Amino acid sequence: MARFTLPRDLYHGKGSLETLKTLEGKKAMICLGGGSMKRNGFLDKAVAYLKEAGMDVEIFDGIEADPSVTTVMRGAEAMEKYQPDWIIAMGGGSPIDAAKAMWIKYEYPDITFEDMCKVFGIPKLRKKAHFCAIPSTSGTATEVTAFSIITDYDKGVKYPIADFEITPDVAIVDPELAETMPVKLVAHTGMDAMTHAIEAYVSTAHCDYTDPLALHAIKMINENLVKSYNGDMEARDAMHNAQCLAGMAFSNALLGIVHSMAHKTGAAFSHGNQGHIIHGAANAMYLPKVIKYNAKEPAALKRYGEIADSLHLGGNTDAEKVDLLIAMLRKMNDDLKIPHCIKNYGEGGEIVADGQSVAKEEDFLKKLPQIATLAIGDACTGSNPRVPTQEEMEKLLKCCYYDTEVDF
Ligand code: ATR
Repeated sequence: MARFTLPRDLYHGKGSLETLKTLEGKKAMICLGGGSMKRNGFLDKAVAYLKEAGMDVEIFDGIEADPSVTTVMRGAEAMEKYQPDWIIAMGGGSPIDAAKAMWIKYEYPDITFEDMCKVFGIPKLRKKAHFCAIPSTSGTATEVTAFSIITDYDKGVKYPIADFEITPDVAIVDPELAETMPVKLVAHTGMDAMTHAIEAYVSTAHCDYTDPLALHAIKMINENLVKSYNGDMEARDAMHNAQCLAGMAFSNALLGIVHSMAHKTGAAFSHGNQGHIIHGAANAMYLPKVIKYNAKEPAALKRYGEIADSLHLGGNTDAEKVDLLIAMLRKMNDDLKIPHCIKNYGEGGEIVADGQSVAKEEDFLKKLPQIATLAIGDACTGSNPRVPTQEEMEKLLKCCYYDTEVDF
């Protein structure tokens, strides 16, 4: 038996933010990142709509990118004080993910962070509040997923919280919010979405319900991401839907080791919140390497071939199709100015010369065994089509560092 869970309601299309008017409740707490939602006028609109719905509104802002356990605890305290019956999380994946974890702590004040991280172990929520998510980036799809990623900066590790309990009640996918994204964010979040869709399609937990969502998302992202990056706003709007479809797929089909590796390298080279490898960029760099590695598994090889066919990439054998898929993804990275490997990954995700990476070679090699162990233990590894050994994971991470061929 398998379960397929999505938000109860999903509103999409330009202007759908207005749906906030129809929510029923008394008190809404809006959770936000830095200033982007305020600067672009979306916060004022959201507050006005919620007031029109007869709600009091309080704001919890300042949620940082790659949110920390400390921020989650602070937000939960604010909720405990205010007692909202709606949590409205608005912005990129970070504030929405953080708000999901705050929601758990608000409903269960005694729960520890360690308890929250027990996969599919969250107790029943919605005794105090319902949750509405409004994404402003086109990648994480956290508005429809059962996941939240929180970073423990003391340990230097990103932890996924996974449970259908934290799938939002309402998702508002209004593309107007994504139109203000800077292009670097378009590139990184877009490749995050591409990775979600491809990993979901080859996951061991994929099914008839998730496959069409994943395949359609891959096609849409292939058609629209580079155009969106180059300023085509229709393509930008299409990407907002595409990433959400990818999210519906992976929330139910789960992911694979691209994400395991991105989670564990993401925090490993950060100093505070500086110099970390941005999640979407990590995915973009590792995806071609992981495809080559997974394709040694016959079932995965066939499914990558199906993806290549759906994109009309050509090729006679599945092996040829896999190579064409990898070439296509590497070209997308080039078009989006994303480096191919960690060695050439600069401070803000830009391409840099050897020796200037945020992850210095010596530091990388020192941390490699531990990163590999943590990546194998990541929640996303369980649904990867090929089971990596410690030695293979270390080799794979090295290929991702140096951009060398995967031949094992
Ligand atoms: P992700 O979706 O990748 O998790 P994030 O970590 O939530 O993204 O946000 C990354 C950065 O993008 C943040 O600096 C965020 O700004 P705020 O914290 O001020 O909100 C910014 N950002 C998110 N959505 C944006 C948008 N639509 N326009 C401009 N900047 C945006």
